[in-house]
Amino acid sequence: DWTPDSFIEETVAKLKAQIGNDKVVLGLSGGVDSTVAGVLLHRAIGDNLTSIFVDNGLLRKDEFGSVLDSYKGMGLNVIGVDAKQKFYNDLAGVVDPETKRKIIGKDFVEVFDEESHKIQDVKWLGQGTIYPDVIESVSVNGGPSATIKSHHNVGGLPDYMKLKVVEPLNLLFKDEVRRVGKALGIDSKLLGRHPFPGPGLGIRILSDVTPEKVRILQEADAIFINGLREWGLYDDVWQAGVMLLPVQSVGVMGDERTYENVVALRAVASTDGMTADWVHLPYDFLAKVSNDIINKVRGINRVVYDISSKPPATIEWE
Ligand code: XMP
Repeated sequence: DWTPDSFIEETVAKLKAQIGNDKVVLGLSGGVDSTVAGVLLHRAIGDNLTSIFVDNGLLRKDEFGSVLDSYKGMGLNVIGVDAKQKFYNDLAGVVDPETKRKIIGKDFVEVFDEESHKIQDVKWLGQGTIYPDVIESVSVNGGPSATIKSHHNVGGLPDYMKLKVVEPLNLLFKDEVRRVGKALGIDSKLLGRHPFPGPGLGIRILSDVTPEKVRILQEADAIFINGLREWGLYDDVWQAGVMLLPVQSVGVMGDERTYENVVALRAVASTDGMTADWVHLPYDFLAKVSNDIINKVRGINRVVYDISSKPPATIEWE
């Protein structure tokens, strides 16, 4: 029978046998999957693990610093890399969602490659890939739904990296990963974090990405997510976020007409992200978040709530 403890025991033993005394470099995202993968690897190989956490400029507000802090004392040997400018440069003017994903994936690999070359004799690349990532990518590459999404964390490895891949979680679903994380003693706040896509806010800006749009979206997103926490709603939601729409709408401020951005709030209930229902958040909460966003975030004058379920509406808008 599958239990978190038996999984941990078997996986650590397997990782030890597979990796031996080799060195592993792991990409951390601040999310549940890569963190759990990291702690498992650390158990198996100790200091032979080095982790890299890249600031792609598309993270949530203050996320880079707070995630680096939360990794302290976990033995993951984390190197934080500020690569914001590279991503912004390469994304400039790009509107097509799949092109954005490819650029973000390619930049990530380049940054990662450069950093991992600084580690002597590294032989393995660790990844926090979980089972649903594997299935969605298979359908992208081979299946009938050829255009779903190119999850950039699967199969995006260029030959020149010449690293062998180790993915200790690639047969698990998210809820199982969380249970394993709990059994490993990982902080419950970290384990309870909503999933966040690898391309980050880059695919929640439904037009070309600019640092200014990222700033606007980070502010609105922080109001929504902190609000969910303050109102005790965060754990009722599987994933939430804000989309910056490529639409401007007319508003009034004093006697002036304004013509500014619209954001859409999205909050879904799900077990694995494959299907999802929109969450019936309380009207009082939505009213408060809407007011706060419109009053505090310069550049936004209208907020809408997404009441679509998956299928057919995917969780992300692009
Ligand atoms: P969709 O939008 O397909 O999303 O309903 C399902 C889950 O996958 C996440 N997602 C991604 N994760 N790279 C990722 O690492 C991506 O390109 C990507 N696109 C979507 C999404 O946030 C949700 O959790």
